[in-house]
Amino acid sequence: MLAKQTLDLIKRRRTSRYFDKYSEVNKQSLERILEAAIWAPFSIYQLQGWKFIVLTEKARDQAAEIILEDPTVLKYIRVMYENTSWGEDDKSWLKLIEDFGKDLGGAPVLVVALALHDPNKHHRRHNIASLWCAAQNMLLQTSAEGLDSGIISFISDKMEDKLTKFLGYDPKEYFPAYVLNIGEAQKTPDIVPREKKDVIIFKSE
Ligand SMILES: Cc1cc2nc3c(=O)[nH]c(=O)nc-3n(C[C@H](O)[C@H](O)[C@H](O)COP(=O)(O)O)c2cc1C
Repeated sequence: MLAKQTLDLIKRRRTSRYFDKYSEVNKQSLERILEAAIWAPFSIYQLQGWKFIVLTEKARDQAAEIILEDPTVLKYIRVMYENTSWGEDDKSWLKLIEDFGKDLGGAPVLVVALALHDPNKHHRRHNIASLWCAAQNMLLQTSAEGLDSGIISFISDKMEDKLTKFLGYDPKEYFPAYVLNIGEAQKTPDIVPREKKDVIIFKSE
């Protein structure tokens, strides 16, 4: 039974982009979500030198403002809808992008994941990969708590440095790998169907 329930939980999770800012995320749920993060597999190059910074209220609003200085935050959503069949018929996503640009989706909680800088490119990749394992753990635990989540990625060094400094860390030591939105969604996003053909390949000889 657990096998089926786990798969159902994985399939039920969606990336939400429109939250109720005043939805309640109770402390126990949030603690379990962060506990799920630190139980992700981690690579030996960073060990447990990662950081998960939970932002609420004023700190959340200030961070959201900084993150939105990176235009790729909105560009990601635009490219996603422009290049996929899910955006074709209904142009309501244009309004979604506009709203997202005002308050980063409006979730009451943001979790910023900080990775350790490492001059070695391969080690750095491991550090980022470990954080993404933690991301999936948090997303699934969020679903299990009856809450919704969203992923925010970015590619501006300038913004990343500013966010790291705002969080009280040295940008020479840490950089943000992603930010998660956590709260109750006001809109449920469409399910994006997953391809199986030529994606999952079994080989026995
Ligand atoms: C590496 C990575 C980066 C992502 N960055 C963003 C992002 O910046 N903004 C966003 O809205 N969603 C982002 N997503 C979420 C994907 O767009 C989303 O998972 C995909 O569209 C499938 O939708 P679903 O999660 O609802 O099944 C990201 C996902 C991954 C794995």
